[in-house]
Amino acid sequence: MNREKASFFDTQADQDWADEEYTPEETAKIRRLIQETGITAGTRIIEPGCGTGRLTKILSDTVGDKGHLIAFDISPKMTAKCRSRLEHRRNVEIFLSSTEDFIFEKQTVDMILCHQVFPHFDDKPLAVRLLANALKPEGKFIVFHFKNSAWINDLHRKAHPSVIADMIPSQQEMKDMFEAVGMKIDTLRDDEDGYFLSATSAV
Ligand SMILES: C[S@@+](CC[C@H](N)C(=O)[O-])C[C@H]1O[C@@H](n2cnc3c(N)ncnc32)[C@H](O)[C@@H]1O
Repeated sequence: MNREKASFFDTQADQDWADEEYTPEETAKIRRLIQETGITAGTRIIEPGCGTGRLTKILSDTVGDKGHLIAFDISPKMTAKCRSRLEHRRNVEIFLSSTEDFIFEKQTVDMILCHQVFPHFDDKPLAVRLLANALKPEGKFIVFHFKNSAWINDLHRKAHPSVIADMIPSQQEMKDMFEAVGMKIDTLRDDEDGYFLSATSAV
């Protein structure tokens, strides 16, 4: 666990960007994400870096009683907010953990959904390998941001020292990372509508 980064995100847990309801534009992007990725009643999802649980709540509503969510975050304050937002829901489990330290059960979920967290993984090849192992053979690995990689990387370059090196890798680096775990990227959009990567098993 990167404690400096966790402390930084603790300071962000009350900020609007982390805790306010999504704007209409962001909500439209989430609706498109849900539709395009096929998240529906019964889907089982792992959501690393869940923050205060804004997306977690929408996913919980969408997957319903037959679905399941495993959400976790390195920041105690983000995790506490996520818990208080979702504490009565039986289809959500929330943990304080980094992706790199989490113990995943093999081949148990339909989807990995990394929403605005991928650049923050300190060991991206390890995180991809661990998360990919938790996917069922036909599962999808999604990396999603409201903004494109140029915008995100520029934001981080100007941000707190603990996240200054947290970049979205190049398309070639992403391709290599997913191929190394037997997955292929089916879709990668990085444009004015944001960043969307979807990968599935290569076999
Ligand atoms: C930009 S915020 C996004 C939060 C949430 N997904 C959202 O979109 O509102 C990134 C989150 O990832 C968490 N995080 C950073 N590194 C992480 C890691 N290695 N594993 C899990 N969570 C991490 C941070 O604590 C923070 O809450």
